[in-house]
Amino acid sequence: YRKAASATGLPTFLLVGPSGAGKTALTMLTERGTVPTTHTSIAPLSIEALLPSPHVPASSHYRSPGDPAYERARRFILLDTPGHGKLRSYATQTLADPKHVRGIIFVVDAAAIDEDQALVDAAEYLHDVLLSLQKRHTTAKTSKGPAAIPVLVAANKMDLFTALPASAVKTKLERAITAVRDGRAKALRDGGAALSGGDDEVDEEKEWLGEGGEGAFDFDHMREVGTTVDVRGGCVGLGRSEGDAAGWWGWIGEQL
Ligand code: GTP
Ligand code: MG
Repeated sequence: YRKAASATGLPTFLLVGPSGAGKTALTMLTERGTVPTTHTSIAPLSIEALLPSPHVPASSHYRSPGDPAYERARRFILLDTPGHGKLRSYATQTLADPKHVRGIIFVVDAAAIDEDQALVDAAEYLHDVLLSLQKRHTTAKTSKGPAAIPVLVAANKMDLFTALPASAVKTKLERAITAVRDGRAKALRDGGAALSGGDDEVDEEKEWLGEGGEGAFDFDHMREVGTTVDVRGGCVGLGRSEGDAAGWWGWIGEQL
């Protein structure tokens, strides 16, 4: 599946997020315009798609449809990964070497995020994704750093009346990520004290997401390491419901 991206050289958008969030449904909608019944993924899936109109690739605003350069700019790859806790190595491997990754789309179920367990699971996963982007930036060999990889949090299932609005999903995730970060730091300190190694301080700093200090984590902290985080609501649309992925496709267009 990773060959696909390197063979075509097309910009790839990596789909990550908890199991059941709607990653495969979104992949199908983008590829076919309709959503079949999906099952929990056990393997990654790579599809090639065209940015649906009326969305326009940011690099081609001044070109017109039909222009070969414009048509080329609309092409991208969606790489759907399994969200199950034991199958995240596909996503982790791609994140460890994100050569063709133009952006990361973290899909969450906005109706499930109100449950503590679902929120903690989503926050832990997103924390790790953001931390790997932060490490990529801070360990970069060149002073300019690697090309920035933006993150979209796609708050899905807005068609359900129990879904929280995107702004609430954002606040909940930021708070839960703060808790994850503080818990990890404490575990590291406790483990460090037990081992009494020499360079715990350094390690702790490397594992700390966002700004140092006591303040809460904020997605805006990621700008410091070249990553923007946008939270946008939408739904994939099942059965007869239309779906509303415009905000997400718009975001993809902004990266193309
Ligand atoms: P894993 O493959 O396990 O990581 O999950 P996934 O993120 O790929 O989830 P998938 O796309 O298979 O969707 C999970 C379930 O949510 C399916 O039953 C979908 O039909 C349903 N679903 C996806 N998007 C929406 C949506 O926007 N609204 C509603 N109501 N249901 C959705
Ligand atoms: Mg899936």
